[in-house]
Amino acid sequence: MIVVTGAAGFSGQSVIRALKRAGRPVRALVKNAAQAAALQGLGADHVLPGDMRDPAVVRAALAGAQALYFICPRFAEDEPAIGALWIRAAEDARLPRFVYHGVAHPYIADMPHHWDKLAVQLALERSSLPFTVLQPTNYMRNVTWAWNRLVEGGIYRLPYSADAPLTWVDADDVAEAAARVLTEPGHDCGIYELCGTDGAITRRQLCALLSERLGKTIRAEEAGWEDWQHLPRYRGWTPGQMARLKAMFDYYGRHGFRAGNTRVLAMLLGRAQTGYAQYLDGLMRLPAHARQAVL
Ligand SMILES: NC(=O)c1ccc[n+]([C@@H]2O[C@H](COP(=O)([O-])OP(=O)(O)OC[C@H]3O[C@@H](n4cnc5c(N)ncnc54)[C@H](OP(=O)(O)O)[C@@H]3O)[C@@H](O)[C@H]2O)c1
Repeated sequence: MIVVTGAAGFSGQSVIRALKRAGRPVRALVKNAAQAAALQGLGADHVLPGDMRDPAVVRAALAGAQALYFICPRFAEDEPAIGALWIRAAEDARLPRFVYHGVAHPYIADMPHHWDKLAVQLALERSSLPFTVLQPTNYMRNVTWAWNRLVEGGIYRLPYSADAPLTWVDADDVAEAAARVLTEPGHDCGIYELCGTDGAITRRQLCALLSERLGKTIRAEEAGWEDWQHLPRYRGWTPGQMARLKAMFDYYGRHGFRAGNTRVLAMLLGRAQTGYAQYLDGLMRLPAHARQAVL
């Protein structure tokens, strides 16, 4: 049995699909019953609703497990504490394999959510557990959050410079790599930075790719944080989560985020990974209703 946490989230669902394609039994930990219902159809063999901060839930999730794919909630202020709880429980359960869904360049202290993931990574390194860390860079999929607005308005706006170079990765490639690392031998102590085939590209360059595909000019603009922080998407976020989000955008604006070498993910997959143009082509090929479902 392979346990996946954060299973109802974007990364978690993708990992479950990849594990089921590989024919592996999956126990999915979701936050509540509503998420459990939403997960029906993905093929998880066991869906466990519960709070991943609750020690009893953690013990139940790990009972009899062969491996864990550990995904923490986005920008969680207490990720180091959640990580410590799961690492202790995994040691008690003598878990054979602990794979952590981290982030590329976790040592960048200017981005506290990266620093939080570094704390979990260090705790793993100091534990008695066989561990592997996957460190994805930004998901290409993040473009879908702005899709309807950029298609209608012709502007791709984010609160950092349009000329900041960033690396990107297809989250489905990350999930396939996760399934391999969870099920193949030879990945103990591996810490893998994962990015697509493009190297770093700016939002202005991305807009050129979008313009070609949409048949209209898409312009890159920089939004102000004052307006950005009030988007409905962030309703219910804590001040700590918002501070982490802002620190990330500020860092991107100052330095970009050129993280990951293109060879690593190809090595794990045994094939070339997805580039941004290819990802967009896949998105465009989806029937309209299916594309709306991923937006
Ligand atoms: N997006 C990127 O570009 C990117 C790149 C690299 C790494 N990452 C990392 O990937 C991780 C997952 O990201 P994601 O986009 O897949 O996040 P996500 O879609 O928000 O998934 C996280 C899931 O965990 C659930 N959850 C929250 N608190 C929980 C709790 N206490 N107990 C059980 N479940 C809980 C969430 O439920 P609710 O939605 O109800 O809160 C959600 O279903 C994050 O740690 C992120 O930092 C993301």
